[in-house]
Amino acid sequence: MTGLGELLEESKIIIVAGAGGVGKTTIAAALGLAAADLAGKKVLVITVDPARRLADALGLSGLSSKGSRVSPSDLEKAVGHKVEGGLYVAMLDAKSSWDELVNRHAPDVATRQKIFANPIYKNISSRFVQSHDYIAMETLYEIYRSNQYDLIVVDTPPSRHAIDFLDAPSKMADFFSSRLLKWLTIPARNRLLMGMFKPFYQVADKILGAQFLSDVAEFFLLFESMYAGFVERAKSVAGILGNAATSFVVVASPEPVPMTEAEYFASALETRHLHLGQMVINRALPQYFRDPAAILLANKIQDRYETLAKEFLQKGSSLAFVKGNKSSPARLEALAERVLLEVADSFLNFSGVAMEEGEEISKLPVDDELVTMVPHLNFDVSDLNSLGKVAGYIAWNGEAPTM
Ligand SMILES: Nc1ncnc2c1ncn2[C@@H]1O[C@H](COP(=O)(O)OP(=O)(O)O)[C@@H](O)[C@H]1O
Ligand SMILES: [Mg+2]
Repeated sequence: MTGLGELLEESKIIIVAGAGGVGKTTIAAALGLAAADLAGKKVLVITVDPARRLADALGLSGLSSKGSRVSPSDLEKAVGHKVEGGLYVAMLDAKSSWDELVNRHAPDVATRQKIFANPIYKNISSRFVQSHDYIAMETLYEIYRSNQYDLIVVDTPPSRHAIDFLDAPSKMADFFSSRLLKWLTIPARNRLLMGMFKPFYQVADKILGAQFLSDVAEFFLLFESMYAGFVERAKSVAGILGNAATSFVVVASPEPVPMTEAEYFASALETRHLHLGQMVINRALPQYFRDPAAILLANKIQDRYETLAKEFLQKGSSLAFVKGNKSSPARLEALAERVLLEVADSFLNFSGVAMEEGEEISKLPVDDELVTMVPHLNFDVSDLNSLGKVAGYIAWNGEAPTM
């Protein structure tokens, strides 16, 4: 088993981060499955934007921030034996998480109702993507405190930069104490200033649409009443990132941009004294492309393809699958030569790319034990069986146990 296997044993929270589209949701779900299987844990995976088919396969119907259990018999089928632990999945529901926050921090019923009715609030809570980072952490904090699971795996939202996730609590606090907020809320607070600002508001309303600015002003004013509670909460939420049992798994694909982003993220973790548990290089070429014996074999085929084609066709059994083929022996031989040569050539081409990938990966400024490779699979990871395969690679660091 790899370092990642140990990590699954030891962690209580695993946060899966990385650039968009590299396979964060896939890896998060596979880590959950691996932890339920190998470590026998009761695991919750909080997903953010699972592809429809994966969500269906996991039994995630609609938005639900409460965990639902993946059928144990389906899990058993996926990994080929009984799974000791339990796998639960939940989907981040930004809208209802915001509502819960407001419920918690609003000073009174009237304020709460005004907030819920405010159009800016409605937009921010459901569409303001940056806020999803914060809400993901909020949800994590809430579930972690409920002590229902042995391990929580969090798939982070698709931010522009993975690092945004780490800064979400402090950004949230900054946002609510910003000067912009103060300016926007002045008119509503001060009758005298209200008069001064009136012409401005009237013009802005004409341009931005009636009501818009006063909605904004009202929104910020209402939120100001919750500021202290929000900031306090954001601090506690940020605190769990530094827990001894919290680890980050950084996912990248072996291409320059995601790799650079992953490196940057790893160094940001270090600066903040947070724990990098593992880097997963997803959709890499399988390791056998870098195996010297395999490369030698492909070279031999390339050198001796003519002889090999003859030998191949001489064996009676090899001809069985071309039986019924009316081609002349000479043409069959020419075809066999072509096939062998193409196979060897393309193997060596893939090897070349795999070597480059390997070089990029070895340049990562982290120890080898901290890197796990998951090969690019020639099927979409959209059901439990394929997730089981990814989980197998995670546990065995890129080498399928059967290889
Ligand atoms: N190792 C892999 N091999 C093949 N397809 C993969 C692999 N990892 C992920 N995928 C596919 O790539 C797509 C994006 O993955 P996803 O996990 O949703 O990425 P992200 O959450 O980072 O946006 C999905 O269709 C998924 O099935
Ligand atoms: Mg995703």
